[in-house]
Amino acid sequence: MIHDIAKFFAAAWQAADLAGKIIRAAWHQPRAIDYKGPIDLVTSTDRAAEHTIIKVLQREFPGHSILAEEQTEITDVASDYRWVIDPLDGTTNFAHTYPQVAVSIALEFSRQIILGLVYDPLRRECFRAVKGQGATLNDERIRISAVDKLDQALLATGFPYDRRDNADFYLRFFRAFMTRCQGIRRNGSAALDLCYVAAGRLDAFWELKLKPWDVAAGALIVAEAGGSLSDFSGKAFSIFGTETLASNGIIHQEMLNVLEGLAKPRID
Ligand code: IPD
Ligand code: CA
Ligand code: CA
Repeated sequence: MIHDIAKFFAAAWQAADLAGKIIRAAWHQPRAIDYKGPIDLVTSTDRAAEHTIIKVLQREFPGHSILAEEQTEITDVASDYRWVIDPLDGTTNFAHTYPQVAVSIALEFSRQIILGLVYDPLRRECFRAVKGQGATLNDERIRISAVDKLDQALLATGFPYDRRDNADFYLRFFRAFMTRCQGIRRNGSAALDLCYVAAGRLDAFWELKLKPWDVAAGALIVAEAGGSLSDFSGKAFSIFGTETLASNGIIHQEMLNVLEGLAKPRID
């Protein structure tokens, strides 16, 4: 199958650019916040950005399926193509005007991600990747870092929305890495965390319970920049899995060794 990658990218960029304009325009306006859970927010900007992205993609590709965070699932079409969309990754940051947010758009073909685009509308940084063709930041090629020891690595993580109930469980991972690496960042946008691993700004990232739209584009960008992805046991990474470990590849096994040594039990 020969994909019309140029056309897919043009539409994905048009959608991300429009969503980015919505996010920038709303940045200094009062937020209308709803709660999906005790600390899981959604704002009118998340919804407006998603609406705009879907409008663009549906206009260009009316036959494609769509999986987007804010309730939009269009699957009643017989298409091998599915767009996986997070219209605003970093909603808690957005709610507090903490400047670390992104628009994430990925395209799957037969359940394989073939294209990923993550756009930081505040820094105007656009990370992109096509399967088999490498990864770029604003059209310049990016590569993972060359750090070869966990001891010298800068890591990032995030905590899932059930963190108030399962704090001890999540802190176990944090403690294990905190005592072995150079530093840990918790920036609040998993999509950008992954892109920062791809660009060599971070050496690795781990998080539990991310959703497909958080990681679909970023995972391809990491892989295409030369990095590695897996679950916490070293098994194949899936955007539908519960564990994300992404690294420059060089320190991947060392991180898996740390995770293996961690006392269970696990939570659901
Ligand atoms: C969240 C961000 C955050 C991560 C959470 C995600 P949202 O996405 O990616 O970094 O720690 O697990 O749910 O809700 O801001 O789109
Ligand atoms: Ca997200
Ligand atoms: Ca989101």
